[in-house]
Amino acid sequence: MTDLKIGQEFMKFTQYEFLEGSDQFLGLPQPPLEVPCPEGSILIKLPEPGELAIPTLELGEAIARRSSRRSYSDEEVSQGELSWLLWCTQGVREIFAEATIRNVPSAGARHPLETYLSIHNVSGIEKGLYRYIATRHSLLEITKDPAFDFKLAKACLGQKFVLSSAVTFIWTVDMYRSTWRYGQRGYRYIFLDAGHACQNLYLSAESVNCGVCAIAAFHDRSLTELLQLDGFERFPIYLACVGKRGEK
Ligand SMILES: Cc1cc2nc3c(=O)[nH]c(=O)nc-3n(C[C@H](O)[C@H](O)[C@H](O)COP(=O)(O)O)c2cc1C
Repeated sequence: MTDLKIGQEFMKFTQYEFLEGSDQFLGLPQPPLEVPCPEGSILIKLPEPGELAIPTLELGEAIARRSSRRSYSDEEVSQGELSWLLWCTQGVREIFAEATIRNVPSAGARHPLETYLSIHNVSGIEKGLYRYIATRHSLLEITKDPAFDFKLAKACLGQKFVLSSAVTFIWTVDMYRSTWRYGQRGYRYIFLDAGHACQNLYLSAESVNCGVCAIAAFHDRSLTELLQLDGFERFPIYLACVGKRGEK
């Protein structure tokens, strides 16, 4: 037992026999379904998913075409296309008092992910960092720092294609949404949830001629600070660059 490495310890102590009763089990109130917006926030409403003219693409074809793409053209991604990609990855279909039902699965419908967007080349939206407010299908501006994409590329260990993406999705976790129900086992589920979101991004991007590349190689502390998160209850776990396909 003393020889367990950190990953082995994690797998061991998140087994059911080692778990204590979760806060939900103890009767504590559940956290909000999404990180609340600061009072008085002005949101950018995205085009309604039902009104988008997205070309139809057969699912088998989208799966067969999917590939990680790290080279993007200078063409803008439209707001409608961004709306589609967000809808496919975290879009909310139904809101109940205790849960949301979305276009991706999530353990216990906890949906502990938040989506930040580093926007670089999207029609009608200024460069900067935004957060997707899934329950309102809107964007909340976080910062218009013109150097944000440089800082982001640096936090992604200098991976250069981050600089040429039209928009980079950054999935963060609001941990208590999961641990409230699952205790420490919730840490297993957040990565699975992020995988579902990213796969939907890869597939939905195929129908709007966008390329995607997932990123898990990043400097945790730098990225956490860049997103103004605490790193314990809220922290980044996964990213993906998106841009129109083609060489620059
Ligand atoms: C969890 C995960 C993390 C990844 N992280 C990176 C990354 O940091 N940088 C990168 O260039 N590609 C990254 N990728 C993309 C993989 O390199 C890519 O999926 C793999 O080479 C297979 O190629 P394909 O996606 O085109 O089939 C990641 C993929 C996954 C699933």
